[in-house]
Amino acid sequence: SFGLTVKETVGYVYQRLRAEIFGNQSDTGSISHIFFVFGASGDLAKKKIYPTLWSLYRDELLPEHIRFIGYARSEITIEKIFENAAKYMKVKENEHEKYEKFVKINSYIAGSYDNGQDFENLNIEANKLSKQDSAHRLFYLALPPSVYESVTELISKYCRPKSPGWLRLIVEKPFGKDLTSSNKLSLHLKKFFTEEEIYRIDHYLGKEMVQNIIVLRFANQILSRVWNRDSIATVSIIFKEDIGTQGRGGYFDEFGIIRDVIQNHLMQILSIIAMEKPRSTKGEDIRDEKVKLLRSVVPIKLEDVVIGQYIGDKDSTDVEHQQGYLDDKGVPKDSTTPTYAQVVLKINNERWAGVPFILRAGKALSEKKAEVRIQFHDTPGKIFDTESHPNTTLARDELVIRVQPNEAIYLKINTKQPGKMSFNIEETELDLTYGERYKDIQLPDAYERLILDVFMGSKINFVRSDELQEAWRILDPILAEIDKKKIPTIPYTFGSPGIQQAFDIAAKYGYIFR
Ligand code: NDP
Ligand code: BG6
Repeated sequence: SFGLTVKETVGYVYQRLRAEIFGNQSDTGSISHIFFVFGASGDLAKKKIYPTLWSLYRDELLPEHIRFIGYARSEITIEKIFENAAKYMKVKENEHEKYEKFVKINSYIAGSYDNGQDFENLNIEANKLSKQDSAHRLFYLALPPSVYESVTELISKYCRPKSPGWLRLIVEKPFGKDLTSSNKLSLHLKKFFTEEEIYRIDHYLGKEMVQNIIVLRFANQILSRVWNRDSIATVSIIFKEDIGTQGRGGYFDEFGIIRDVIQNHLMQILSIIAMEKPRSTKGEDIRDEKVKLLRSVVPIKLEDVVIGQYIGDKDSTDVEHQQGYLDDKGVPKDSTTPTYAQVVLKINNERWAGVPFILRAGKALSEKKAEVRIQFHDTPGKIFDTESHPNTTLARDELVIRVQPNEAIYLKINTKQPGKMSFNIEETELDLTYGERYKDIQLPDAYERLILDVFMGSKINFVRSDELQEAWRILDPILAEIDKKKIPTIPYTFGSPGIQQAFDIAAKYGYIFR
């Protein structure tokens, strides 16, 4: 079943650690952990957080004596929250009893985001659950960033557990809107929490293929030898969605695709693809290398940036495709916010000098896909395209890491056309498609892994404040220039493959389309 395989996938190591960490609490029967969902009435809570908590509970991966408290301003009930989330919860026929138990250990409290009294009340309610007031407390901020500051301050002031209980704060992106606001938020958090206590979530770090990059790179001699400018011509990190902003336009318009996806998800992938080998797989060692790499990224030139905004496809039979970005509710009619962007980054170090890193992200395109494409240099010393085999062209080798959908790693190489008597060449793949190779394994959702990591106190897959600062340092000047010069976005049609000018720049940098 799904449950068992996730448990197996997460592995026995986790089971062992769980016993070590949570084990001694079970005996007393008192509540050992309280998980708070701030913004419990919202979209993320409904689609991701509650369904994830249910999956982890169902698979018995959480501490036994845990309680969940939802918090938001709306005067609603926990039943209503579960009703709204029902279609995202995977509850099988034989799991209803367990699901009811899960619902029973959830509660909801309504209160403001800026009134100390409300947080005091929340603390009183939480204390009622655990006699010693020392249950560990995890706070998930599924809230708009506008209320982060007041909420975090009040959590720290009123809702800290008593010793030896620990506190962990999970902060959702966006972490600021630019370098200044991000630094301001970091400084604010620093006033009330230790870095130890803060978990900045970037859910791409919870995806199987993103986690696999480190193994792929550092556990395979054959790859580590070629992972540099001598062998690699271009690296592309691509994010495509086949949906528009779907009513999230109000949030999106303030940020745009560079802040929404490139600054975080794609920069995280970039840093893992390009960093040096860490001293160990410890969180701090990995994050040190990521920061070091980001520090070597040189400022982006405006000529290397393309931005676009989708327009409706009037001829489409799909109603969603007929709507342009400007038709989304909450988006001002004259908005110039990009829903598509490509930036070319350069890394000034010995490994990567001269290799373009092409980062491209777009909404409302022809397909949903996230992948890394590494193109190797052309094979030197041509011996195949001679007069006797005139149709032979030699394609570049290319390694593709497909993050989603259908996780895969494949290497495009040239092979002799099977059965042919001469050296006719064709392109083929060494193909590790997970769905084929690991048929029985159900990969856990990114949020499941990351929330588990928080319980375990593992920071590998969370963003450190200096990483964040560096990612903003790289993108800040270009974002400011786009705003200042009012660079117009190029329109592209909903459902199209993207923007030609972006492809032309990628080609100019040596990326070969095929
Ligand atoms: P919502 O807009 O649904 O907000 C969550 C809750 O916050 C709402 O239910 C509402 O609760 C309260 N709220 C909304 N607007 C305001 C406001 N202006 N002032 C005060 N409170 C407000 O957000 P999401 O759930 O979509 O997102 C939460 C966080 O997660 C954001 O930081 C977002 O960027 C991030 N995120 C969201 C994703 C998604 O798919 N939704 C994906 C990745 C990240 P009430 O009125 O009851 O207090
Ligand atoms: C979020 C962005 O962080 O990631 C969304 O805010 C985007 O705009 C989403 O749709 C994509 O996540 P995934 O996991 O569906 O690729």
